[in-house]
Amino acid sequence: MDDRIIELKDIKKSYGRVYALGGINLHINRGEVVGLVGDNGAGKSTLIKVLAGAVQPSSGDILIKGKKVSEWNAAKSREYGIETVFQDRALAIQQTITRNIFMGRELVNPLGFLKVREQHRQAEKLMREIGFTSKVFSPDSIVGQLSGGERQGVAIARAIYNQSDLIILDEPTTALSLTETEKVFHFVRQARAAGRSILFIGHNIHHVFDIAERFVVVDRGRIVLEATKAEMGSAERLINFMEEIAHPKQEAMKTLAGGHQ
Ligand SMILES: Nc1ncnc2c1ncn2[C@@H]1O[C@H](COP(=O)(O)OP(=O)(O)OP(=O)(O)O)[C@@H](O)[C@H]1O
Ligand SMILES: [Mg+2]
Repeated sequence: MDDRIIELKDIKKSYGRVYALGGINLHINRGEVVGLVGDNGAGKSTLIKVLAGAVQPSSGDILIKGKKVSEWNAAKSREYGIETVFQDRALAIQQTITRNIFMGRELVNPLGFLKVREQHRQAEKLMREIGFTSKVFSPDSIVGQLSGGERQGVAIARAIYNQSDLIILDEPTTALSLTETEKVFHFVRQARAAGRSILFIGHNIHHVFDIAERFVVVDRGRIVLEATKAEMGSAERLINFMEEIAHPKQEAMKTLAGGHQ
């Protein structure tokens, strides 16, 4: 039996008459990297916002470790170990790595003073744990001086510090070069090795195929495919599948038309 961190049951979200999510059934197991893909407007971000508690579903249930949670919201999502790294607004770029890791959860002594050295020490440990190999950076480095991939690393380090079970990364590599993307992958693998689950959203199917071990394809608010890497076989098959749902071939159209005869 798999070890489910979170499970969505028939989650729907409508905006007026538009269904952004039309009944999503999805679960995330402990210690797995799941790739979430789909065309523009498919519902990926809406799905993440529901998981993060930033958006209330119109209907459906959210289960944590098998139990239904009522009145799901952002505070509960964090409390149950889900950390969402939204692109761009993830970090305070004028602040140090340490400040960013501890932001909102600072270590203070009984008198309310910041435990500066303790935070520094823990930030250093986290950076090592997550695989910051560059000697150039210390916990006192300003985040704005880091590369895009390294910034994602800081966000992941923060999620690890928060003991998150599930780290959600919304398009963490979209604006990054190949080298930077490799860094993010390295951080993701380290987080997974530390027992975390990762939900990775990406546009580049080759990237997602590389990093994830299970794939979920959404199309117009519904999950149209769930497959493990072994079942999928290659990134090309995943790409072909996605092209097929975006532009159904003549053959498929004929079959549909044939159904009416
Ligand atoms: N706040 C909103 N109000 C109205 N409609 C919305 C809102 N948010 C999303 N939608 C609609 O819901 C659908 C799914 O949007 P969503 O942002 O989840 O897609 P996505 O898969 O993340 O797309 P992209 O790859 O472009 O980021 C779209 O049709 C979108 O226009
Ligand atoms: Mg989106």
